[in-house]
Amino acid sequence: MKVSRRLAERRVAHVRESTVRPEWPRRTNGRAGAGYAPAVTAERPEIRYRRPTEADYRAIVTVVNDWWGGRPIDVLLPRLWLQHFTRTSWVGESDTGRLAGFLVGFLSPDRPAEAYCHLVAANPNLRRMGIGSELYERFFADGRAGGRTRVVAVTWPGNRVAIAFHRALGFEPEAGPGTQNLYGTPAYPAYDAEREDRTVLVRSL
Ligand SMILES: CC(C)(COP(=O)(O)OP(=O)(O)OC[C@H]1O[C@@H](n2cnc3c(N)ncnc32)[C@H](O)[C@@H]1OP(=O)(O)O)[C@@H](O)C(=O)NCCC(=O)NCCS
Repeated sequence: MKVSRRLAERRVAHVRESTVRPEWPRRTNGRAGAGYAPAVTAERPEIRYRRPTEADYRAIVTVVNDWWGGRPIDVLLPRLWLQHFTRTSWVGESDTGRLAGFLVGFLSPDRPAEAYCHLVAANPNLRRMGIGSELYERFFADGRAGGRTRVVAVTWPGNRVAIAFHRALGFEPEAGPGTQNLYGTPAYPAYDAEREDRTVLVRSL
């Protein structure tokens, strides 16, 4: 809960002055994941965190492209993630069961010191409210319980929000041999599929 404490004061101030939309989520454009009922205030709804099951797959995969600003993230989330990694993954949902965020991660079988976060996201209408941090806190606890001493996450260096978010949680980008400054962040060029640049973010547990 260290992260919560560190961010709590800033967040209270932020939410007070927030430009957060007064209803959440209010999309009714017919896209998958749309049709949430409006809430009545700008206050953060009560969020309940639990382990996902395979039954959550459809609700998650239908919103991910939208939640990543239109990037085709669904190809990175085949069903297998909710079949084989649910004991180290999390979903957050409102008291009415609406998806508020999720984290898909695992304890590396090959690297006994590492916990690896594959994807983490918060509902776009509930951002800067601590949900991403709270998902990670739970994953940090999973890592510690599994004897892990570091958490790793990989992202596109141009995803400045992801970089800022991870830095705020204590992650640092790897900056050693093979990295270049891309979009202002150390990153490995052509890290994935010989074309996708990636920043490797590491945090001690
Ligand atoms: C990245 C993401 C998960 C953050 O979730 P969140 O619930 O909004 O994050 P939090 O409220 O816990 O933010 C924690 C801190 O991260 C930093 N942060 C978060 N969003 C930020 C932004 N847009 N710009 C700058 N800093 C940001 C801030 O320091 C923030 O603390 P503060 O609000 O007190 O200033 C969310 O923006 C998201 O889902 N993005 C799309 C998916 C994605 O890119 N995921 C990461 C790669 S897998």
